[in-house]
Amino acid sequence: MSKQKFYITTPIYYPSGNLHIGHAYTTVAADSMNRYKKMRGFDSYFLTGTDEHGQKIQRRAAEARQEPQQFVDGIVDKIQELWGLMGIEYDDFIRTTQQRHQEVAQKIFQKISDQGDIYKAEYSGWYCSPCETFFTERQLAEGHLCPDCGRPVEVTKEESYFFKMSKYADRWLKFIEDNPDFIQPATRRNEMVNFVKQGLDDLCVSRTTFDWGIKVPFDDKHVIYVWFDALINYISALGYGTDHDELYQKYWPADIHLMAKDIIRFHSIIWPIMLMALDIPIPKKVIAHGWVTLGDCGKMSKSKGNVIDPALLVKKYSLDTIRYFLLREMPFGLDVAYSEEALVNRINIDLANDYGNLLSRLTSMIGKFQNKVVLAPDGETEFDKELIELAKATPAAAAAYFDNLDFSAGLAEVMKLVGKANKYVDDTAPWALNKAGEKGKLASVLYNLCEVLRLVSILLKPVMIETQPKVFAQLGIEGREDLGCWEALQWGLFPAGTEVKRGEPIFPRIDFAAELAAEEAEEEAAAEPVVEYEPLGEEIGIEDFAKLDLRVVTVLDCQKVPKTDKLLQFTVKMGEETRSVLSGIAKYYQPEQLIGKKLILIANLKPAKIRGIESQGMLLSAVLGEDLELLAVEKIADGSKVC
Ligand code: MSP
Repeated sequence: MSKQKFYITTPIYYPSGNLHIGHAYTTVAADSMNRYKKMRGFDSYFLTGTDEHGQKIQRRAAEARQEPQQFVDGIVDKIQELWGLMGIEYDDFIRTTQQRHQEVAQKIFQKISDQGDIYKAEYSGWYCSPCETFFTERQLAEGHLCPDCGRPVEVTKEESYFFKMSKYADRWLKFIEDNPDFIQPATRRNEMVNFVKQGLDDLCVSRTTFDWGIKVPFDDKHVIYVWFDALINYISALGYGTDHDELYQKYWPADIHLMAKDIIRFHSIIWPIMLMALDIPIPKKVIAHGWVTLGDCGKMSKSKGNVIDPALLVKKYSLDTIRYFLLREMPFGLDVAYSEEALVNRINIDLANDYGNLLSRLTSMIGKFQNKVVLAPDGETEFDKELIELAKATPAAAAAYFDNLDFSAGLAEVMKLVGKANKYVDDTAPWALNKAGEKGKLASVLYNLCEVLRLVSILLKPVMIETQPKVFAQLGIEGREDLGCWEALQWGLFPAGTEVKRGEPIFPRIDFAAELAAEEAEEEAAAEPVVEYEPLGEEIGIEDFAKLDLRVVTVLDCQKVPKTDKLLQFTVKMGEETRSVLSGIAKYYQPEQLIGKKLILIANLKPAKIRGIESQGMLLSAVLGEDLELLAVEKIADGSKVC
């Protein structure tokens, strides 16, 4: 029987700078969905990529003093590296600067134009370059600001091509009525319907004031509007409109276009209308998740400078903890405020205390009570039934949420089972069963816990891609794919007689306070020392200065004073005279470095004894914070007066 197809996409990202955990959220969610569908036997295809044209990219490239192509190439490399680090297994990565995309985009523009749905007129209105979006005066926020991102918009007046969107408004409304699940969550659908009901304008689909884009095929003064170009990626990647459209035939229409709520309008209104004009099927679902926000600054975004780098988090914690956190923390469709403290709490509570600790307790007890061997169940405790029932019900409960991309609720179901298993340990008290010689019941309890951990590792596998092998290794069933796949989500498959191999905790507990303190100490050590300038001394008259007799001296010899850390003893020549001078500067100079140097001595300072050695004067140095440098001259003969 041939497998059922499934096609999921993320937005294609603007390569205008490093991606942050907001982008990582969408991509990890799509990757987990793809893995989940593959585990469930689907022929699943996952597309992501980069949206490389437009005014914003052209400006960024100019700021970086690079050609746009060179600029995007560098960033796309970094994006692909990041996806590698985050365990993202896409089936294709499309770049809109690729020939395969440009050709299809031009063909589509031509086709829609040929059928009379594109016309030329003068565009006069407002444009938000960061959002690459046109607005009418009426749509702007107060003060001529972009209604989406709040930044100033620019007046645009240019000859443009327009796409007759208005013509399709009724057909679109009818489509939504017939397919109420197309836009999710429902709140977004309602917003979109209201938007269209207020009247749909034709869409400006070309620009002439810059040239970084795909040329309009019949008028090369114009480049295709970047959103019109970008949305086409979902079919150009499949070879739509080419001689090699096997993937298109197989996977289109998309099952899920996944994105955050900021770009739902493009995907749920413009894109379906483009597809209607092309007379090709509309995707099944457009799903908008919320934003990852940081503090009070709202949506995490590069331009606001409030971004968190996912690569750093993966290096600091671990891949699976970050993937788990992202998907567990964001309630379906709602925003989530990011904080490192919330991340650490999530890791500590769910993964270290509950999941990891259960494995540790279990392997330790099997080691102590059964000589490391998992024995076949042999007897029952009053607590078994409830645990086993929950374990049997959890796969369907979690899957129902996963199917809808509600990973947060799905993972919560799985963790409920882990929590129950921990409680089961406390309720059944295996140590007491052991003491009481209840060997049969003890065997059952330990067996049941192995089964729970095996099932949990399967259910978490689409999200936590490195953990199952670690759990299986400790449970003694390393490499047993037959016990780790979706079909193995059946109670009782754990092979009795297996010897467990207790190992290191799989999710060590993180001491956030200690970590923070260590980071602060590190930052402090790395930071430039704060320099405090000495306050200026009291004013003196020239007659006071004249009292000082400063002379140039040549260092004949210099030695560290034994048993002291700081003191150097100098033998200096001052004209015809030789003197012995002490100075507390051993930490700044090696004595031999100073021999031959011409330094400045306060020559009429009363001699003083330090550590029993007489110092006949004082050498001058300049001091700032931790820095010190002896004052020196180069050519002039020793004995010269400094004035
Ligand atoms: N290039 C367009 C998409 C074209 S698709 C045909 C674009 N790119 S983007 O780089 O700005 O990324 C948009 C997507 O990144 C969002 O829809 C969302 O999936 C993800 N996110 C970007 N910032 C985000 C948050 N702060 N929070 C959650 N997701 C975020 O728009």
